[in-house]
Amino acid sequence: MTTRPKFYVTTPIYYVNDEPHIGHTYTTVVADVIARYRRATGYDVHFLTGTDEHGQKIERAARAQGLEPIELADRVVSRYRELWGQLDISYDDFIRTTEARHRRGVEKLIAKMTAAGDIYLGTYEGMYCAGCEAFYPEAQLVAGRCPEQGHPVERVSEESYFFRLSRYAEPLLRHYRDHPGFVRPESRRNEVRSFVEGGLRDLSISRTSISWGVPFPGAPGSIVYVWVDALTNYMSALGYGSDETGPAMGYWPAQVHLVGKDILRFHAVYWPAFLMSAGEPLPETVLAHGWWLRDEAKMSKSLGNVVKPGPLIEAFGADGLRYFLLREMTFGMDGSYSDEQLVDRYNGDLANDLGNLTSRIVALIHSGCSEALPPPSDEPEANELAPAAARAFEAYRSALDRYEFSAALSAVWGLAGEVNRFLVQHAPWDLARDPAQRHRHRATLRGAAEALLQIATMAAPVMPRACGEIAARLGARLPEDLSEFRWGRLPETGTVRKDAPLFPRIDREAYFEETKTMSESKEPLPATASPTPAAETDDRISLDDFLGVELKVARVLTAQRVQGADRLLRLEVDLGTEKRQIVAGIAQSYEPEALVGKSIIVVANLKPAKVRGIESQGMLLAAAAGTGPVIATFEGEVPPGTRVR
Ligand code: MSP
Repeated sequence: MTTRPKFYVTTPIYYVNDEPHIGHTYTTVVADVIARYRRATGYDVHFLTGTDEHGQKIERAARAQGLEPIELADRVVSRYRELWGQLDISYDDFIRTTEARHRRGVEKLIAKMTAAGDIYLGTYEGMYCAGCEAFYPEAQLVAGRCPEQGHPVERVSEESYFFRLSRYAEPLLRHYRDHPGFVRPESRRNEVRSFVEGGLRDLSISRTSISWGVPFPGAPGSIVYVWVDALTNYMSALGYGSDETGPAMGYWPAQVHLVGKDILRFHAVYWPAFLMSAGEPLPETVLAHGWWLRDEAKMSKSLGNVVKPGPLIEAFGADGLRYFLLREMTFGMDGSYSDEQLVDRYNGDLANDLGNLTSRIVALIHSGCSEALPPPSDEPEANELAPAAARAFEAYRSALDRYEFSAALSAVWGLAGEVNRFLVQHAPWDLARDPAQRHRHRATLRGAAEALLQIATMAAPVMPRACGEIAARLGARLPEDLSEFRWGRLPETGTVRKDAPLFPRIDREAYFEETKTMSESKEPLPATASPTPAAETDDRISLDDFLGVELKVARVLTAQRVQGADRLLRLEVDLGTEKRQIVAGIAQSYEPEALVGKSIIVVANLKPAKVRGIESQGMLLAAAAGTGPVIATFEGEVPPGTRVR
């Protein structure tokens, strides 16, 4: 029996001071694509993600909301888990740094570093940035702020344990030299090397001024510096310090720690130095990606320019967002986010290219071959696309092996373009009309379907759901292992399934009108019992605030589609004392006629807004369900104009 090689991939663990945005989403989706690709190429994969719950930043954020740090952590963790579920993130384990297994891992690492003579007691005097949870020498500050991200810093003076980082400068440089793949991409390696060449100072690794953390072993009143705590997650999750004979420990050392460029130094300098000190093997690669920017700046909570993934998943689907994130960003570089690019990518690459190609091939087989997959054939058309598919596969694999996700997708889309050209050239719709061309007609459709299955197979790590669906519509299944990737995988017989568009086109203008008129409503975190009264910065509203929103019953008098906007309906409603016109994005869930006579709930004191040039005098309430909006109505008869509260 051959055992599959192990492949351990990790995401950074996310701070729980705020909810996830698309920067965090990107990191995790990239890790997921790596995990799925490695599983498909014969590896025994272990994929870890989790949350970083200790430290000053979390403690302060919790207190500001009148919460205990663990209460805030619990809330945000459920948001992360929910999001990863929505996005089909295939993680094997989720570590929280507040778990006992994690604490034991931290204790073990510190014990080993102590035994190596690398920890000593001293006094820390200097500047601390709670935003980065990092110490900075005064000389490195820029205009009195942290040099990395411009956060405010504060003077700290406290007794502290230090780690002899200075001792590891030479061993680290040697390691970078002997393992050129340790930091990737290459440009980042140079950055790390120069940082270490500049000299390393010993690192303060305990804090006494805060208490939210792992107690420093043997030093009552001190906690472990949050980065020592956090980095250890990659081993504590496998059982380091708690279950070392368990099966998970065998995944260490990791093949890939995926990180954003802002946290590269912690992973490529501190972490390997800690491991060297503790005598543990080092990870193979620290792989750093760039930032999603908005208006030239890093998207971050402190700048208030974040894009939340929830509404994007609702509009573009999990696969649509996953595809966009990987296709749009050149891995390793920064990329600018814009809604326009997202809509255009989605409509161009997914609705048009892949979606239409699928509908076209399925429809041609459906109508031309009575739904049955044409059988394999020796006619040249059946195999004409095989060389193009093989070329695309080679380019795809070599790009993914180099973590060039965008290039890998571009190779796959290149094949989609060839299949389209092939169809136009052979025109199976014409061949179908001539009984003498029956064999060529079938061979052409067989060839196109075979190529489509290959496209779906390659795109599956990025869009698992849609690609599984493409295969199913062809009466096939995706291969579990890419070693089975070969021309001729389409079953000999089967039936195709015609269905709704895989990626419904988004009406660009209506989308922007809608997102513009939608108020910046912030979904509340799921409530958990909180005994502590809310502080000033709490997001919850008072009863008075709520009563300030005038909700009223309205009866729908007329409903019409809005020309040129797929999602919009124009309603005329009776509000008891007056008639109003409301434009609502519900056309994909409701036929206009079905709404007439219904009693709905309207926000009656909303400022009018123009949607597609039509004035909307209020807004109706609807649940934002995954399948499309569902409007709120009443069980019994309620006269129009009745107040709802
Ligand atoms: N808790 C630390 C990591 C500890 S790992 C042992 C942390 N957390 S974080 O929540 O702030 O960031 C987690 C990841 O999200 C990082 O890789 C970071 O680069 C990434 N992103 C946060 N904002 C980002 C963008 N605007 N763009 C892309 N990724 C960015 O750091």
